Amino acid sequence: MSGSLKGLDIVSIRDFSRDQIEHILKVAEGMVPVAKGEEKSNLLEGRVLGSLFYEPSTRTRLSFEAAMTRLGGRTLGFDEPKGSSVAKGETLADTIRMVDAYSDVIVLRHPQEGAARLAGHFAEKPVINAGDGAGQHPTQTLLDLFTIMKEKGGIEGNHVVIVGDLKYGRTVHSLSEALGMFGAKLTFVAPPTLQMPKEHVKHIESMGMRPTISSSLDDVIEEADVLYVTRIQKERFPDPAEYQKVAGAYTINSAILRDAADDLIIMHPLPRVNEISSDVDQTKHARYFEQAFNGVPVRMALLSMVLGGIE
Ligand code: NCD
Repeated sequence: MSGSLKGLDIVSIRDFSRDQIEHILKVAEGMVPVAKGEEKSNLLEGRVLGSLFYEPSTRTRLSFEAAMTRLGGRTLGFDEPKGSSVAKGETLADTIRMVDAYSDVIVLRHPQEGAARLAGHFAEKPVINAGDGAGQHPTQTLLDLFTIMKEKGGIEGNHVVIVGDLKYGRTVHSLSEALGMFGAKLTFVAPPTLQMPKEHVKHIESMGMRPTISSSLDDVIEEADVLYVTRIQKERFPDPAEYQKVAGAYTINSAILRDAADDLIIMHPLPRVNEISSDVDQTKHARYFEQAFNGVPVRMALLSMVLGGIE
């Protein structure tokens, strides 16, 4: 992918060059007043977003919808397949063909890795991956990068410690590759059974970066500029007993933050279950709610560029 995003599928973070990402984030910055409702825009008036969520979602689905609405467009779709013909046995291919005919851009979340790529083959309109199983979550990565840029003034050279379920967590698969591309120093903290899959580590190494692999948060917390916390992805465990072994492996609370740098920021794609205790919310470190808001301007930028409203 190079240059304009108009008409393109957004499936993996690898679809973007660094220049393209920087451009999206710049456009997103300009969208903030509209995202907050302080200014009005009709940039996507008359355009329709087809929103297909085969898995639960709060932030991703609602922020795409907010983004479309704030730009004067409309959204149709479903937030669970039970109420659609999927329940009657309709294939993903056929559902995509229909929504392709009813909308100008399709946002898809699906439990199967590769579903968005497949949907892209059946749709004429651009398909945006809103999470495919344990695969990728590229739009989350864009808003994560936007948050780091805003809070830290840049990405390169920051030490980002990513903790939790790195095996099944799709947000960190996309994010770690993007951070590698931007020259951030990376440390992956997880129990050995939930460490970052080799495929992603190798990709990051191919860009000349050397991520540190660890299972101890205590060892690295004081050197972190950004602590990116993730939920153990219970729904992806083939065996509930395996989940029980790792549930609650890392909990961020004020005690663990005693050694943290003053300007450490804590991020989380949310939802959190018990990885971050609520006493952290009041600290100067917490940024996860701001991060969730950033999904709106970033998705406004992306939708505008994919639909050709902005170059
Ligand atoms: C994440 C997801 O769905 O992958 N949530 C999100 O989109 N903000 C993270 C998660 O569910 O743990």
